[in-house]
Amino acid sequence: MERLRDHLLQSGYTIDGVRARLGVVAASALAREELVPALRATAGGDPLATLIRLWWLGVPVPAKGVAPEVLESGLVTADGDQVSATVHLQPWETGGYVVSDRKVRPGDPALRPDHVVGAGGASANLAQLVTRRPVGRALDLGTGCGVQVLHLAGRAEQIVATDVNPRALELARLSWALSGVTGVDARAGSMYEPVEGELFDLVVSNPPFVVAPPGERTLTYRETGADGDAFCRDLIRRTPGHLAPGGQAHFLANWLHVEGEDWHDRVGGWLSETGCDAWVVQRDVQDPAEYVELWLRDAAEQGTRAYAEHYDRWLAWFDEQRVEGVGFGWITMRNSETLDPVVRVEHLDHQVVLPVGDYVDSVLDAVATAHRTVGLESALLRTADGLLDERIGLPGAEDPIRIVLRQTQGLRRSREVGTVEAALAGVCDGQLALGPLLNVIAELVGDGDIADADAVRPLIAEGFFLL
Ligand SMILES: C[S@@+](CC[C@H](N)C(=O)[O-])C[C@H]1O[C@@H](n2cnc3c(N)ncnc32)[C@H](O)[C@@H]1O
Repeated sequence: MERLRDHLLQSGYTIDGVRARLGVVAASALAREELVPALRATAGGDPLATLIRLWWLGVPVPAKGVAPEVLESGLVTADGDQVSATVHLQPWETGGYVVSDRKVRPGDPALRPDHVVGAGGASANLAQLVTRRPVGRALDLGTGCGVQVLHLAGRAEQIVATDVNPRALELARLSWALSGVTGVDARAGSMYEPVEGELFDLVVSNPPFVVAPPGERTLTYRETGADGDAFCRDLIRRTPGHLAPGGQAHFLANWLHVEGEDWHDRVGGWLSETGCDAWVVQRDVQDPAEYVELWLRDAAEQGTRAYAEHYDRWLAWFDEQRVEGVGFGWITMRNSETLDPVVRVEHLDHQVVLPVGDYVDSVLDAVATAHRTVGLESALLRTADGLLDERIGLPGAEDPIRIVLRQTQGLRRSREVGTVEAALAGVCDGQLALGPLLNVIAELVGDGDIADADAVRPLIAEGFFLL
């Protein structure tokens, strides 16, 4: 694999190399499953064009242009004077390579149930959420093509990667070998079975979270046959048994929005029994039709005869279950070893600063601090860096109608506040305790009423004030 890796690098088959060769138009067209612009951009027959056609676009290439390192890799087949890929092999943002099954495109035969999906938007989404803190033992549950391990390498002392699909582990091993990642302990099995009785400092999983009707032929990479969103629920419930003290878990998940039930309660309920501090962020909600279309497209079912039938069955099942929508988002858990854990569940669909992993620990710290600190009056608070104070008022009027505190860093939250909190943000520099500060502010800007220090808790939880 080392020779192949050298050839890929020397040929410029890297994220930047592919991006530069394809250009914006061809890359956008590919995202719409249109190959023609990319084929035009790679018509040259040079080593990079050949690699992009073979392993990125998945089209046959003339054997005479294929390097010996590629022919001998075991990842292509030759048919006459043409060479075809047997896998999808893509450069990844870590500088490594990811090997998976070939991408499916409209008109291709149906996916095999044990299809190993390549790294994509969801993989990158999870990777950017995971804490950047160095850790001891890390677990990647449902490793698939092995992409999360590429992100963990160098940050975790030991990495265990599991998958229920043995083919996934085979391809993941190729990804790691091509990326120069060694020492990964790969184990086959479902959920936490392969790591029974073991503790980890970090657990990450982009699980098979797709919610599909029971009894359907399942694609292992995305659905499990579990009832509704029960796989994600069970994953969360079993996680505390595998988190070392202070250990953290990061998951992507789907959850159902069911008629008559608040989704906050549904997902919050999964976490409330775990004893962990947790932070749940819903990044998107799709209505049932949008959701079904997304996953039918994912398996390239559009345009097939079965499409309408499958679409109808899926929607009928959602109707039976009174599903009004499906939420997608992030779940972070921390074993804080406290008797008073806190679970924060929220919807945030605006653009946040990436990667969240750079500051996810402080988000969780803020939520826990706001929840557990007693005697806030004597706390020395500091206004978060980069906070803006925005005022909206009538022209010429002295008092604003609205004051908004807006973060320019991290989660970029904004919150409408009163004059007391706004004044606090102006003076809070960690020198004077909150109680006395609020007294002074109340005299200066308020009507004499002293603001309650506890009223500042939500702004601490949301990172406007630091403790
Ligand atoms: C969405 S893919 C994620 C792959 C990769 N980790 C990523 O981030 O792109 C989900 C993976 O979970 C695996 N999986 C499915 N059911 C599982 C189970 N019961 N236990 C463990 N892994 C499972 C699938 O085989 C698949 O590789």
